[in-house]
Amino acid sequence: MNNVAEMTKPSERTITRLADLSKNQQAAIRRIPGEKDIVNVPLAATRPNAIFTGRERFDAEQKKIFQRFAVPVTLTAMLPEPGSVVAVEAYGKPLLVSHSRDGEIRVFINACQHKGSKLVEDCAVHKRSRMTCPYHAWTYGLDGKLIGVARSEMFLGLDKSKRGLKQLPSQTWGGVVYAQLDGTDLDISQLSDQIAEDFTALGIPSAHVYGHKVFQIKANWKVVLEPFLEGYHVQRLHAASIGDKYVDAASIVDTFGANVRQLTGRIGYDPSMLDEDSEGNIHKLVTHAYTGFPNVVVVTSQYYTSVMLLMPNAVDHTTVQYFMLTPEAATTPKAADVFERSYKLIIEVFGGEDFRAAEITQAGLSAGVPEATIYCGLEENIIHYYTALEKLL
Ligand code: FES
Ligand SMILES: [Fe+2]
Repeated sequence: MNNVAEMTKPSERTITRLADLSKNQQAAIRRIPGEKDIVNVPLAATRPNAIFTGRERFDAEQKKIFQRFAVPVTLTAMLPEPGSVVAVEAYGKPLLVSHSRDGEIRVFINACQHKGSKLVEDCAVHKRSRMTCPYHAWTYGLDGKLIGVARSEMFLGLDKSKRGLKQLPSQTWGGVVYAQLDGTDLDISQLSDQIAEDFTALGIPSAHVYGHKVFQIKANWKVVLEPFLEGYHVQRLHAASIGDKYVDAASIVDTFGANVRQLTGRIGYDPSMLDEDSEGNIHKLVTHAYTGFPNVVVVTSQYYTSVMLLMPNAVDHTTVQYFMLTPEAATTPKAADVFERSYKLIIEVFGGEDFRAAEITQAGLSAGVPEATIYCGLEENIIHYYTALEKLL
């Protein structure tokens, strides 16, 4: 198994120092106790099976969260250059995200205004100045305007200005592209300024997308999310991969509405290490794990950052867009090697371990067992998050 902890650093530019982080992150990191001083408190909490298996709950989440507030669809890092377009299957809808020459990032329904065909069929990033429908070759600008119709003289009274792509209100937030799926005014009231500031300090908006993978998971989106809100499973589920590098629970947790930031010192962490190596890579000492409203997961590693968007399709089906971000494309063979091994490892850990756990858990939940899930003191962030989410339902 690859051992990321033993990898040598690829280049100086890939390093984030403590001082590069936001003031708020730095203050939180300074509160992380030494490993020997960590105190975990027991907890008694449960949630009914139906929150993971019930149609009623799923419909309520759709109505009051995913169709009510702006939700993430992709990362700005996917479209760094003007003249790029990428299709995303998100929340059961075909979407198209473009970065046009005017510098705007826009989100559209990926459907031609002639008869509805998708304009872009795969999920690769395309460099284009226009998009042509594969069916009858209607052509659109990256701003969504209909600019060309084949044999247009055969359409009586066609007003091209009324047949632009259907655009959804959208905004970028800490490097994440959010869109309002129901097409009404953008509602970003649940997003946290602090999270956007943290994401920016972590380099998410300016990152290079080293790897992008879409997972189809047979589990409720919250079953997929839970392992990213608790450390209880890490030394157990990940015993053969990364388990020995992490303590059982995050020590500093800050919540910003339904947004959670968890900070954990690496095994053997002591606060004095911050000053002993203030110019060193902070990601060697501290792991950041975020849940951004409602379904953005960010986990930092030494030389890369993982971002996941957990998109519910059905009660027991979730699409996960996984992105491995690096500060820059590999510039040396050593960096290329580190990134390649890291990508293999992380896909195996998340895909082969966390997402597998989600699927085998959903199988039991869908059979009605347990009637209520039960949470311990090492899983209390799940309860923080659910409590905030439940206020919106
Ligand atoms: S459906 Fe797109 S041109 Fe006909
Ligand atoms: Fe995990």
